[in-house]
Amino acid sequence: MNKNILVVTTIGLLFSLQSCKQEVKNDSVITETINPLEKTYQPKVFDASKFETKINSLISQMTLEEKIGMLHGNSMFSTGGVERLGIPELKMADGPLGVREEISRDSWAAAGWDNDFATYYPAGGGLSATWNIDLAYVFGNSVGQELRARDKDMLLSPAINIIRTPLGGRTYEYFTEDPFLNKKISVPLIIGLQDNDVMACVKHFAANNQETNRDFVDVQIDERTLREIYLPAYKAAVTEANAYSLMGAYNKFRGEYLCENDYMLNKVLRDEWGFKGVVVSDWAAVHSTVKTLENGLDIEMGTPTTNFNEFLLADRLIAAAKAGDISEEEIDEHVKRILTVLFQVKAIDGEGRVKGSIATEAHYKDAYDIAAESIVLLKNDNHVLPLKLEGIKSIAVIGNNATKKNALGGFGAGVKTKREVTPLEGLKNRLPESITINYAEGYLERYDDKKKGKLGDITLNGPVTIDELDATKLQEAIDAAKKSDMVIIFAGSNRDYETEASDRRSLELPFAQEELINKVRAVNPNTIVVMIAGAPFDIVDISEKSPTLVWSWFNGSEGGNALADVLLGAINPSGKLPWTMPKKLEDSPAHATHSFPGDKSVTYTEGILVGYRWFDTNKIEPLYPFGYGLSYTNFEFSDLKTDKKTYKASDVIEATFTIKNAGDADGKEVAQLYVSDPKSYVEKAAQELKGFKKVFVKTGATELVTIQLPVKELAYYNEVKKEWLVESGTYNIKIGNSSRSIKKEIQINIE
Ligand code: BGC
Repeated sequence: MNKNILVVTTIGLLFSLQSCKQEVKNDSVITETINPLEKTYQPKVFDASKFETKINSLISQMTLEEKIGMLHGNSMFSTGGVERLGIPELKMADGPLGVREEISRDSWAAAGWDNDFATYYPAGGGLSATWNIDLAYVFGNSVGQELRARDKDMLLSPAINIIRTPLGGRTYEYFTEDPFLNKKISVPLIIGLQDNDVMACVKHFAANNQETNRDFVDVQIDERTLREIYLPAYKAAVTEANAYSLMGAYNKFRGEYLCENDYMLNKVLRDEWGFKGVVVSDWAAVHSTVKTLENGLDIEMGTPTTNFNEFLLADRLIAAAKAGDISEEEIDEHVKRILTVLFQVKAIDGEGRVKGSIATEAHYKDAYDIAAESIVLLKNDNHVLPLKLEGIKSIAVIGNNATKKNALGGFGAGVKTKREVTPLEGLKNRLPESITINYAEGYLERYDDKKKGKLGDITLNGPVTIDELDATKLQEAIDAAKKSDMVIIFAGSNRDYETEASDRRSLELPFAQEELINKVRAVNPNTIVVMIAGAPFDIVDISEKSPTLVWSWFNGSEGGNALADVLLGAINPSGKLPWTMPKKLEDSPAHATHSFPGDKSVTYTEGILVGYRWFDTNKIEPLYPFGYGLSYTNFEFSDLKTDKKTYKASDVIEATFTIKNAGDADGKEVAQLYVSDPKSYVEKAAQELKGFKKVFVKTGATELVTIQLPVKELAYYNEVKKEWLVESGTYNIKIGNSSRSIKKEIQINIE
């Protein structure tokens, strides 16, 4: 909604409420309280003052040059140490799909090590689709172990920007369109990671929601939207997970680059949230010397053209300090922060520091467990899944995605791994030998390199694909389909097409896959479609014509095995979409409001109505809604109660209900709690996710489920008062298994 309209509507509504003396709401100011009932992972204590004496002593012995050496990269992924004082380099590795292979010290070339093979973990979309906070902890803890085995201090991960447009090149890396799910996945992940004496570097702080023009685009977000949608997961990373570092984003926010943004880095992050860690720049995202430090950045990273002394926080900073343009106290402050986190992770005084392990069977199992819970069953009309193998002698496996690997690819960080089980390999591993697999590639992954935007172009529109079928490949696919009892087509996308540094040009499925699927289905109607992608695509036609449709992700080392186990029923699917699958691009808020990608500047015109908030409030039917995913069993929700009818702002609402597994397979269900505030005097989304719980229910059994909802979660951000306020009055608490499948509803009152 347009900001001006918003103001008018709000005032209009206020008048109408007041004049008819209906429920005029009062606000309660929210103070931060910890909810003692909520099951949470506890972060390590991060008490910066503990190291103060030692740090002051070290700083008193350091030269200006030594101090400044710590404030910028001295290699592609480390900053300088001071050997004579026992201060080591701060050693980083890229994430978030796992620990990236070792990069050369002064260029992007691989270092060529043979001991840097790692586990490839499911990408962000997959992890968040599990809706399982325990698995988020497992993810962080497992990758933290690998980071230590590589003797690193910091993982450039997790990447938690909100998915504003389905076209976003990094959608696959990010978690979700919803701020609540975002923080609930981020916090345990960061805690798990940092439990291994390493630092998370939570990126990209903040308001970095597109790749197009990311190097300079100036993002305009109104304050309420910023607070309610784009910042909550970062805030939780700092205040609930004690994240030791954050990465400043490339773009500008309200006119100032995010790596020198006084408002974001000093005011919000440090003054308001009490952040005690370090802010690292994104690679080559620093634009000034004195300003960037004074406005809150601590470490400049990037790619040198000649050597690292040319960085803005290197020789130029020494000169600025000598000229008196910046005080030595200011420089000391940044050095102190870096030393603090080095002490905190035992990189200094390292006794008892976690040693770690890498690419172990246990870690592959972690990757498998996450993948297994991430797969989303979109359609199963005729109960074809789980596959019934009686009478099946042959299966055609069709599609480039049956064999495509995604640990590496595209522009962004990947993982060098010895294990990436493809879908085809997964099926071979799991199907009995008596079944013949007839594989055909079907479509070719091809790009038009002559056109602008080819792979590797930075911050331009995405790769241009060749969307024509190859006659020979098509014929092979048709022959395979004809001679097989059934067909599984692996379609979708890959990490060359969905890539950092460019947004996709459209929602269309590339490489003429839709045509392939239609032609294959025509010769063998017994066809299952499995999509593998990290972001929404236009699958309206596929969805209409395919009674059986499965969604999987760039799903890590064990992705193929997990997928085969879901198809064969060893795993009952329990993944839920972490974003809305629109019917068409124009239905999505950033596109409906024509506010993507902007040019020099982009205004997030849709305001708080991001993702399903937009679809639900404007009553737009999505193809598949946020939170959606089927199971091989049926769950029935009943007996929704709350522990009280009326609550104070400091209370925790306990919503209790039962889930019965009424089908004939054990399974997990994600109970989702949405809240509506039908009589608000400020603009609110039709409903908002405010709680969820993943529950295992045996077939025939009934589980009693409680979701705790602190009343403070109902707060909205009041821009005028600069406070979080909970309106008094009636709210609807809704329980369901997707945002569009609400099973029970109950009203409560806030005093
Ligand atoms: C990305 C970061 C990444 C860094 C180092 C940048 O282009 O935005 O996410 O950590 O490169 O590879």
